[in-house]
Parts: sequence; structure tokens; C-alpha cells
Amino acid sequence: MSVRVNAGELVTLIGANGAGKTTTIRSISGLLRPTAGSIRFEGAPIHTVAPEAIVGLGIVQVPEGRRIFPELTVEENLRIGAYLVADHARVAERFDSVYALFPRLRERRRQLGSTLSGGEQQMLAFGRALMAGPRLLLLDEPSLGLAPLLVQEVARVVTELKRSGLTILLVEQNARLALTLADRGYVLETGRIVLSDTSERLLANPDVQRSYLGSVRASR
Ligand SMILES: Nc1ncnc2c1ncn2[C@@H]1O[C@H](COP(=O)(O)OP(=O)(O)OP(=O)(O)O)[C@@H](O)[C@H]1O
Ligand SMILES: [Mg+2]
Repeated sequence: MSVRVNAGELVTLIGANGAGKTTTIRSISGLLRPTAGSIRFEGAPIHTVAPEAIVGLGIVQVPEGRRIFPELTVEENLRIGAYLVADHARVAERFDSVYALFPRLRERRRQLGSTLSGGEQQMLAFGRALMAGPRLLLLDEPSLGLAPLLVQEVARVVTELKRSGLTILLVEQNARLALTLADRGYVLETGRIVLSDTSERLLANPDVQRSYLGSVRASR
């Protein structure tokens, strides 16, 4: 596969269960090593760089299934996102901006992660990633398992982050949501890119409609 995300772009990778979406994300963040090929960030190869150093370069992942720390408070979870940031003033600034984006997290900052609802845990996972000051944000199925109202909340957050100029690679099974948010998209089938186009054209593509958007809604 070959995928490119330009600075300031929101690009989505859509595909069914097992297509290789998470594998792609984990390869970019260094948690998996490609056996062939290369991954470059701002011109430099990163596929041999350690995961913690990749975070230092500004590539930050919001993992599938949130993976927050249940035994830590909301605030402690967020602080962990900024563990590479030595400047206290900068950490304080990031807390402010994360709490501005997610007022609910500020209200619950002393609560344990385990007490949060699924939607709140997703917000916490977003917040934790933002604490690292990402230059490229990798989102692995942020809408998974969330009720429609919370999916809208995820959409709001992704839209705000995009508007702030952040570069985002969004991986989703919810193709309609992803293509509504993204500038461009790739369709992944069993580890291969089978389609690549603007979101607008992918949404209008009959094959995409049939396979990924559901025939009922596609026929409207
Ligand atoms: N370590 C591994 N060893 C062997 N097979 C693996 C390994 N990791 C993933 N796979 C397989 O590779 C395929 C792609 O997995 P991946 O998790 O990337 O899919 P995905 O697109 O994220 O799916 P989902 O939508 O279910 O999250 C799957 O068939 C999976 O079982
Ligand atoms: Mg996955």
C-alpha cells in the first residue's frame, strides 16, 4: 500500500474488519515494524525509529478501544500524554486547551478513568493525545461503539482539530462519517489500497456506496 497525508490535510483510510487499518496506524507509530517498504515523516524515514522517539517527532496515536488508564484520574491520564514535555508552562497551556475542547473532562478531572462512560473515555483518549502536541494525529476508529449523539461529538472534535490546522489520518469503519469529515480517502481491502480519491467522489462512487455506505442510505 501507498498512502500520503499532506500537511494540514484530513485523510481517511476506510475498510472492513481485518482490512489492515490498525496495522497501518501501528506501523506509522512504530509499534509494528514493516517487513518491507518505508514510512517517511516530513521527508525523513521513521520505520526504524523507536515508538517513543516517533511521539517526540509529533506523531501521536489515539488507539483503537481508547486504552486509557482506568486506575489513574482523568488529570493523570492527560498528564501522561505530555510526559515528553519538560516545560511546565507549556503543559499548563495544553491542559487549558484540552479542557476548553472537552469541558466534561475538566469537571471530572479528579475521577478515575474507570468511572468514565465510553464516550468520555474517547474524549480522554483524544485529550491525552493532544497533550503531546501532535503534528500528525492518528485516529483509530474514534466512533466505534458510541451512540449517535456521541459520534456527532467525535465529529465536532475532529472538525475543530482540522480547522486548527492539525494534520490527521483517520481510520474508520464508519465510512460515511469518515468521508464526511475528510478531504481525501483511501479504501483498504485485505491489506491493499483499492481506491483513492477525494471524499466527495468516494461518497458518490457506486462501489463505495454498495460496499461501505449501506444500500438504503446510498439509494437516497
Ligand atoms: N500480529 C499478527 N499476527 C498475525 N496476524 C495479524 C497480526 N496482527 C493483525 N493480524 C491480522 O491482520 C489483519 C489486519 O488486522 P488489523 O487489526 O489491521 O485490521 P483492521 O482493519 O484494523 O480491523 P478492525 O476494523 O477489526 O479493527 C487481520 O486479519 C488480523 O487478524
Ligand atoms: Mg482496527
